[in-house]
Amino acid sequence: MSRRAVIAGNWKMHNLQKEAAELTNGIMSELKEENKEALPEVIIAPTFTSLYAANKALKDCGCGKVRLAAQNCYFEEKGAFTGECSVQMLKDAGCEYIIIGHSERREYFGETDEMVNKKAKAILNEGLVPIICCGESLAQREAGVTDYHIASQITKALIGLTKEEVSKSIIAYEPIWAIGTGKTCDSAEANRVIGMIRKVVKGLYDETTGEAIRILYGGSVKPNTIKEQMAQSDIDGALVGGASLTADSFAQIVKGAM
Ligand code: PGA
Repeated sequence: MSRRAVIAGNWKMHNLQKEAAELTNGIMSELKEENKEALPEVIIAPTFTSLYAANKALKDCGCGKVRLAAQNCYFEEKGAFTGECSVQMLKDAGCEYIIIGHSERREYFGETDEMVNKKAKAILNEGLVPIICCGESLAQREAGVTDYHIASQITKALIGLTKEEVSKSIIAYEPIWAIGTGKTCDSAEANRVIGMIRKVVKGLYDETTGEAIRILYGGSVKPNTIKEQMAQSDIDGALVGGASLTADSFAQIVKGAM
C-alpha cells in the first residue's frame, strides 16, 4: 500500500501574527512551481494566536498546497476550562490536524497517555486528524526500554478508537534526545522503531490498518537529512521543529520528500 508522505512544521512558541503570515506566504512562494499532486501533505502548526493570520494567508493564496494544524487542544467541547481551546474552536480557526502528546507537553504541562487518548477521540469526533507524538528519553534508550515505552504510549493513545479512525490518524515518533539537539536519530534506527510501531498497530487492529497509518519521524530533521529518512521503508514523513521556522529550509524538506 502506498502511503502519502506528510511534512509537518511544528512552529512551537514562535512567530507573532505578522511573522506567521510572512512565513506562511514564504512557504507558499517556495512551493509555487510545484505541482500540488506531486507534493506531500504539507502542514504548518502555528501557535494559537497566529492561527488566524496563517489561515488567512493560506486562504488568500488559495493554492491549497499547505494545511493548518494546532499544537494542542482540550478534549472537552466547551465549559469552564480557563485557558483551553476545544477541537471545535480549532476547526473553526481553520485547523484540519492537531498535534497531541508532544514530549514538551508531556514534560512541561503534565500531558498523560490518558489525556492523549481523550484528545485523539475528541479530534476524530470532529473529523480532524490527530498527530499523535511518542518518543523515549535518553535514559529510557540507555536502559533498553525504548520499544516497550513506545508500544505502551501508542497502545494507550489508541484505546477505543476504530480501525477507520486509526487508519486516518498520524503518529510521530520523536526520540526526546533528538528534539532540538541537532542529534538526528540514525535513519535505520528510526525506521526500526517506526516499523515496530506499525507492528503494534497491526497487532491491535489488523494488517490493513497498520499499513494505512502514516508514521513520521521527528527530531532535528533538516534539509540534508530528509532524503535518507524518506528512503526508509516505514518512515512516511517528518515532524519538523527548528527547520520549519524559515520558508527556505522548510520548503527544502518538503521538496526532499517528493
Ligand atoms: P526539532 O523539533 O526539529 O527542532 O528537533 C521537532 C519537534 O519537536 O517536533
